[in-house]
Amino acid sequence: MSYVPKILIVDDEARMRDSLEFLLSNKGYKVDVGCNGGEAIECLNKDSYDIVLLDMVMPDMNGYQVMDYIKSQHSDTMVIIMTGHASIDSAVESLKRGAYDYLRKPFDFEQLLARVKNTIDQIKLKKQNELVSGKLEVTEQRYRYLVNASPDIIYTLNPEGEITFINGAVESLLGCNAERLVNKHYTDIIFKEDIDKAKYHFNERRTGSRATSGVELRLKTSNNDRNPEEYLTVELKSMGIYNKLVNEIDKTFMGTYGVARDIGDRKRLEVQLLQAQKMEAIGTLAGGIAHDFNNLLMGIMGRISLISHDIDLNHPHYKHFKGIEDIVKRGSDLTKQLLGFAMGGKYEVKPTDINELIGKCSDMFGRTKKESRIHTIFQKDVCAVEIDQAQIEQVLLNLFVNAWHAMPKGGDIFIQTKNVTLDDEDVMHYGIKPGEFVMVSVTDTGVGMAEETQQHIFEPFFTTKKLGRGTGLGLASTYGIIKNHDGLINVKSKKGEGTTFNFYLPAVEAQIVKQLPDDTEDEILHGTETILIVDDEEIVINVSMEMLNSMGYHVIIARGGKEALEIFKKDKDKIALVILDMIMPDVGGSYVYNVLKEIRPDIRVLLSSGYSIDGQASEIMSRDCDGFIQKPFNMIQLSKMLRKILDK
Ligand SMILES: Nc1ncnc2c1ncn2[C@@H]1O[C@H](COP(=O)(O)OP(=O)(O)OP(=O)(O)O)[C@@H](O)[C@H]1O
Ligand SMILES: [Mg+2]
Repeated sequence: MSYVPKILIVDDEARMRDSLEFLLSNKGYKVDVGCNGGEAIECLNKDSYDIVLLDMVMPDMNGYQVMDYIKSQHSDTMVIIMTGHASIDSAVESLKRGAYDYLRKPFDFEQLLARVKNTIDQIKLKKQNELVSGKLEVTEQRYRYLVNASPDIIYTLNPEGEITFINGAVESLLGCNAERLVNKHYTDIIFKEDIDKAKYHFNERRTGSRATSGVELRLKTSNNDRNPEEYLTVELKSMGIYNKLVNEIDKTFMGTYGVARDIGDRKRLEVQLLQAQKMEAIGTLAGGIAHDFNNLLMGIMGRISLISHDIDLNHPHYKHFKGIEDIVKRGSDLTKQLLGFAMGGKYEVKPTDINELIGKCSDMFGRTKKESRIHTIFQKDVCAVEIDQAQIEQVLLNLFVNAWHAMPKGGDIFIQTKNVTLDDEDVMHYGIKPGEFVMVSVTDTGVGMAEETQQHIFEPFFTTKKLGRGTGLGLASTYGIIKNHDGLINVKSKKGEGTTFNFYLPAVEAQIVKQLPDDTEDEILHGTETILIVDDEEIVINVSMEMLNSMGYHVIIARGGKEALEIFKKDKDKIALVILDMIMPDVGGSYVYNVLKEIRPDIRVLLSSGYSIDGQASEIMSRDCDGFIQKPFNMIQLSKMLRKILDK
């Protein structure tokens, strides 16, 4: 049902009242009447009206008084004054006091209807306006809430570049009060080195219509007074504000608005990723160098042992050959560090008693470095760890040497082992699985390290030692080896007070493999079997062949995996043992090994490698391969290894 406007007629003249009531009711309005001011107020108290038709002169009170009452109590009600004595002055006065319109008596009915209709229209319009502005207010409130709750900085600038609005995000991000920034110039919050860049983009907004998108800028934080290097990196999107649409010409620049998003975390992750990629690249390089270098060292080592074998202890050149052999050994220690860092070199993984390994290693170290007193505190029933013993020995030696260097006047080194459980939180930052571990800690009472130094010690080539004293590979390689064993390592140190390195290796259920002491003499053992050498490196092939020949073996050579398989298929019954290189350009050692074992399951295979990728060597070793020998090796080592395998 449509709305019926309500009208109150107030007049002391009965004829006038009745005729107006009759006419307006006929036109469909709801009409009430009052004979004087008192009755009018009574009606108004009971009901609400859209229009009051008000006579000015009444016996009890005049029209102004009634009107004042209406304006104070019913401000939405419109008043039309009817007066017989209307002068222009009184009409103006009544309009001033809030009447909407006036009629001079006598008026004709058409005139009255027109005024009433006009007033009703006005009322409708007012109601619509109220509705619209109410909605606007709600929308604005909503946007204000969204803008203020935004984690991004949202702002507007005037044409001069002064901040006209900025949301609360500046408080959490920059630590400054949003209201205090209003009227400040935008350059006040730009980091000093980025001011020119910011100005360039601001000016571009002035002239262009394109939005600035994805510009990286640094903003000053409130700490900037104390620490001028502190900033927040944001990504900025900004847009010019104009008085006309973007594509219209002759528009006036009114300022800019924009959004700045904190991308500090993203930047940090990018830096970390870059660092990780850099390390990976150096690792690949290091692994490659180690591989080629080991082959060269193999050539030198092999030839030296061939000569040493032929000459007498009293020969004037004997000591030179021994000297060269020592240097080659140092070279191979260096490639071992490179391999460790490149996460290679893990070949022979065996369940091991770590206490025993530490005991052996610390005895050997203590014998040469008498000024360091070594104390061990071993966990009873320590869990087994599955490790490449040579590599963990290398880790221990790196830590011992560092400790020894840190105590130039001598001191104590404490080595402790402990069975521990690491939970999710403990391993969170290391990317390894929680569980049972064996912890090994190496503590010295030396010079210690500053916080700044500690942050870099695991990086390759970081050293604080004098040129020639350290290469900075020790801890980088230690870190790589521990990581390659699914373990973790950390450091605690204080300058002047000493250092503790703790590393954790995953505990395993497996039975510990006892190592039999090598009680054979340091002499070359001979044999007459046929041996197939598989290697792609000419230097290695030549020297290995000569060494084997001089031990009495028959030698067949394959210069790659494919050739090896062809030869083996033909001569499989003649060949007693295969010396197999891991990395070859055509077919890799892992594949060759599988096919050899398929053709002849009892064939003996000795793996030899200068480098292995992705744990290939340790994977083959875990499949019952007969033995492993790391390049560079000398004649004695090779001859012993061969007899050990062939005589099994
Ligand atoms: N126990 C320690 N006490 C004090 N500083 C140490 C200790 N261990 C390592 N550092 C610091 O860490 C740096 C890096 O050690 P790292 O073993 O990687 O290289 P290096 O010992 O300098 O050289 P390299 O081991 O290759 O011969 C050292 O130069 C030293 O500053
Ligand atoms: Mg070192």
